[in-house]
Order: sequence, then structure tokens, then C-alpha cells
Amino acid sequence: MKVIFSGIQPSGTLTLGNYLGALQQFTELQNDHDCYFCIVDEHAITVPQDRLKLRDNIRSLAALYLASGIDPKKATLFIQSEVSAHAQLGWMMQSISYIGELERMTQFKDKAEGKSAVSSALFTYPALMAADILLYGTDIVPVGDDQKQHLELTRNLAERFNNRYNDIFTMPEVRIPKVGARIMSLQEPTKKMSKSDENEKGFVSMLDTPKKIEKKIKSAVTDSEGIVKYDKENKPGISNLLTIYSSCTGESIEDLEKKYEGKGYGDFKQDVADAVVNLLQPLQERYNELINSPKLDDILDDGADKASFKANKMLKKANKAMGLGRVRK
Ligand code: AQP
Repeated sequence: MKVIFSGIQPSGTLTLGNYLGALQQFTELQNDHDCYFCIVDEHAITVPQDRLKLRDNIRSLAALYLASGIDPKKATLFIQSEVSAHAQLGWMMQSISYIGELERMTQFKDKAEGKSAVSSALFTYPALMAADILLYGTDIVPVGDDQKQHLELTRNLAERFNNRYNDIFTMPEVRIPKVGARIMSLQEPTKKMSKSDENEKGFVSMLDTPKKIEKKIKSAVTDSEGIVKYDKENKPGISNLLTIYSSCTGESIEDLEKKYEGKGYGDFKQDVADAVVNLLQPLQERYNELINSPKLDDILDDGADKASFKANKMLKKANKAMGLGRVRK
């Protein structure tokens, strides 16, 4: 069975972008793959976090994974910081990463831009991400489009390690959804929708009320042409709403264009809002049942045990390959 690994940062409440780009793919994959889904809290601290909020976000993210359909009987769900092999192999991956290649990461450039104090962890984040993936012998990494560059770096690091030390790491492949791989901000449709966006109107949170969702979609920035047509260059706002609609309902963008021929943006936006609400409402109901349940802790305890067991085996091989510590019988 092929191995899947993917992680999400508990850096805020997940957005519709996180769901459509990542989470939505996870549930279908768990049926015929050995899946590891991770709450990557060590990545979240690469930018300042409020201690108590981070704790809440970790728990909330675990509940969202499950509410989205992750079944703990089929997939391993765990918190990164509870499996120490991640930080350990992350350090080893840093030791084989070059400053030049890390400097080329666009996510680092975007997140560091205009900031006077940038943590060194934000810079070395992709080495930790490589460790996350490589620890499980991962074959496939389902992610949104923004993680493609990090995945390429992971492959380079795996290859470098295998050539330099010992051939222990599997070469992971990226899996990006055909529609929904990059959901854009509702306010600046040329910018990715992000959970840490300071402008709350720019994203739909997975836990927004139906009223809030409707308001946000209705105030999404579009254009004055009045034609519902996919044209990313010239109509980024409408194209983004078409992508959201299509990803939520499964209807193709071409069919949606035909459906709204001759109709204005008002009807279209109302229907996009309804499609998002219909998708998120049942998920929110499951979330509310889970969030305060002790079952959630049992699932995470079990996940940490299972993940540690697998990760420690790979860590041992990597230590041996690099010559760290002692070899014990
Ligand atoms: N806008 C998006 N469209 C499609 N997929 C997206 N992803 C993120 N944003 C979009 C995918 O969600 C998964 C988890 O992402 P992450 O939390 O690990 O980090 P991120 O990519 O940096 O996401 P955010 O929401 O932008 O977080 P912040 O604001 O904290 O940086 C990944 O698979 C990602 O591709």
C-alpha cells in the first residue's frame, strides 16, 4: 500500500482554501493508502503565536480533520511536536540544505517581506517539512499548489542524502487537485487565500456561520463586466468564485459558465455562497460534536504512538547512515 503524508499548520482556523486544496483530497485517499495526517505545530511557531491560541488551534484542527471525514481507523492523525523524530530529522535535513536553495523559496520571501524580525526557523522550515515527509517513507504528498516548490526541495534533499550517505529515503511525488489547488483571497483575488490574512473579509473560515459566509462571498471583489466567465488574467475575482463553486459542487467550470449566461453577478454570488454553506454546514455540525469530546484526545494519543513507531525506525536508519550516536545491538 502506498504511503501518504500531509500536514496542516494550526496557525488559525482553516480556510475554505485549506479545505479545497488539501483536506478534501485526504478523505478519498485514506481508503486505499497508508495515510499519515499531521498537525504541524512546529511549523506554526516559525512566526509568533499566542501560546493559548496555539493550543486551541491545535485541538480545533484535529477536530476539523475528523469532521472532514478522516477516519482514525483508516488513517493516523497526530501532532508533530508529539513525535520528536520530526525535529530530530529536521535538524539533520538542515545540515544538508544550502542557504541558496532555501533563499529561493517563494513562501519564505512572501512571509518575510517587509518584516524587520524574521525567525531563522521560517527560513529553514522547508528542511523540517522534508523531514516530516521522509520519515514515513512517503510515496505521495497531497497538497495545494503553494507547496509544490517545497516538495521539489524535499526530493532534492532526499536524493542528496541517499547519494551522500545511504539509499534510505523514498522519493515522494506531489499530488495537486485539478480544480481548487489555489483558492484566492476574496478581497485580493491575485493573492492566495490564507488563514493568517489580517483582512478577515479575504477568507472564508471553515467555521464561519452561514450568514458570515454569505456576506463575505457577496462582498468578494469582482469586475464590472457582468459576465460569468473563467479568465484568470482579466477576471481573477469571478474565476476564483467559479473555482470555489466548482470545487464545492463538483460541477465543471464550463457547465457553470453556461448556467450563468445572461445572468448577473448577484444571482451567481448567491449560489456560490449557498454551495459553500451546503458544503461546510454538515462538517461544522460534526466539528461541534467533537471539539470538547475526550475521544479527540484518545485519537491523538493513539496517532502519536503509531506515528512515533514508524518515524523512529526511519530516524534510526538516518542516524546510522550519517554516523550519529552509537550503534547498539
Ligand atoms: N489558498 C489555498 N488554496 C488551496 N490550497 C491551499 N492550502 C493553503 N492555502 C491554500 C493548502 O492547505 C494545506 C495546509 O497549508 P498550511 O497550513 O500548512 O500552510 P499554508 O500553505 O501556508 O496555508 P495558509 O492558510 O496560507 O497558512 P498561513 O496563513 O499560516 O501561512 C497545504 O496543502 C496548502 O497547500
